[in-house]
Amino acid sequence: MNVLLVGSGGREHALAWKIAQSPLLTRLVAAPGNPGIAEVAELASVKADDAPGLVRLAQEMAADLVVVGPEAALAQGLADQLAALGIPCFGPSRAAAQLETSKGFTKAFCTRHDIPTADYVECDSAGEAIAALDRFTAPYVIKADGIAAGKGVVIAASRADAEAAITDMFHGRFGAAGARVVIEAFMTGEEASVFALCDGRNAVLFGDAQDHKRVGDGDVGPNTGGMGAYSPAPLMTKERLAVVMEKMIAPTLAGMAAEGAPYRGVLYAGIMVTPEGPKLVEYNARFGDPECQTLMLRLDSDLLPLLKAAAEGRLETAPPPVWRDETAICVVMAAEGYPDAPKTGSVISGAEAASQDGAILFHAGTARREDGALVAAGGRVLNACGLGLKVAEARRLAYALVDRIDWPGGFCRRDIGWRAL
Ligand code: GLY
Repeated sequence: MNVLLVGSGGREHALAWKIAQSPLLTRLVAAPGNPGIAEVAELASVKADDAPGLVRLAQEMAADLVVVGPEAALAQGLADQLAALGIPCFGPSRAAAQLETSKGFTKAFCTRHDIPTADYVECDSAGEAIAALDRFTAPYVIKADGIAAGKGVVIAASRADAEAAITDMFHGRFGAAGARVVIEAFMTGEEASVFALCDGRNAVLFGDAQDHKRVGDGDVGPNTGGMGAYSPAPLMTKERLAVVMEKMIAPTLAGMAAEGAPYRGVLYAGIMVTPEGPKLVEYNARFGDPECQTLMLRLDSDLLPLLKAAAEGRLETAPPPVWRDETAICVVMAAEGYPDAPKTGSVISGAEAASQDGAILFHAGTARREDGALVAAGGRVLNACGLGLKVAEARRLAYALVDRIDWPGGFCRRDIGWRAL
């Protein structure tokens, strides 16, 4: 099978690492990939948000499957363009990707299909949004409708802060993403991520995880894309996972199909486990990063037949996923200054020999300098992952890997997985 993998982060390195182990694979091309992915795939210099370029590449390489990591090209209709050419794509159509790209769409969809989530209002102007605050109590949850690089959610402790956040959004703080806002009731509880592989009609549970969003130890400091993750999440009991599948994922698949936008790809449900049970915080049309890295370590069976079957609308014909009875932990190593102003260009040593003893290093924002040196080229740069029978063992392995890397320009949290311990 010829596979094109779209993306260049740690999530895509983990997917490439797993796909490369498949006996069904003939050729794996990653666009644009990174130096770690280059160890298991050919790299093509097409950007992950260049939908026309990706379509051309898929045609040139006679791809049997395109696997899309990030959501940007999906929002441009990459899956629709590939479908028109008969090329299977693991990733939703533009219409179906609205579950991630429009918070207002998803909230209205949840109301139509009775999916448990927080009460909300959607507003088109600052005046309307400020008036709507009367219907809620502090803390106020204000969300830009569109994609804002994970930064479009403000939890405001006071009415004054909420009004300031609304004014900011309508003044273009998140560009077009903030032209409409959603105000939601604040939910109390603990958050977790649940993943389902979907083929347009059917969904298969594909694991759960928890990530650490704050930059500092003890879950303090600014929000990030994720500083680490672990899977499985002890919080997500069998009973809670069943609620997520029955009350969220199944009606979502049925509802999207009934509304003419069947969902194919991975559906990532951000869940709040509230005192009344699990509720949906948001959907994403992609794997979580770094949650995906932990799932790939735990997956014992072949990934490729599942992705292909999901892309071709025949998930029931693929063998179900088989998981190792172990815990995986991923520690994100970030460039100094992340998340506000990461400093790029610092030299990283020791990465080549770092994966050993059940620990695996995935690359995210790395690049090769002309002289061959590995350097930081983004905010989140490396992912140190460990797999162990116990959480403590997985964590020990991941941090031992961190300590084998010599990178004065980087940092990581030292408490990833504390909730699971
Ligand atoms: N780790 C959170 C996300 O991928 O959105």
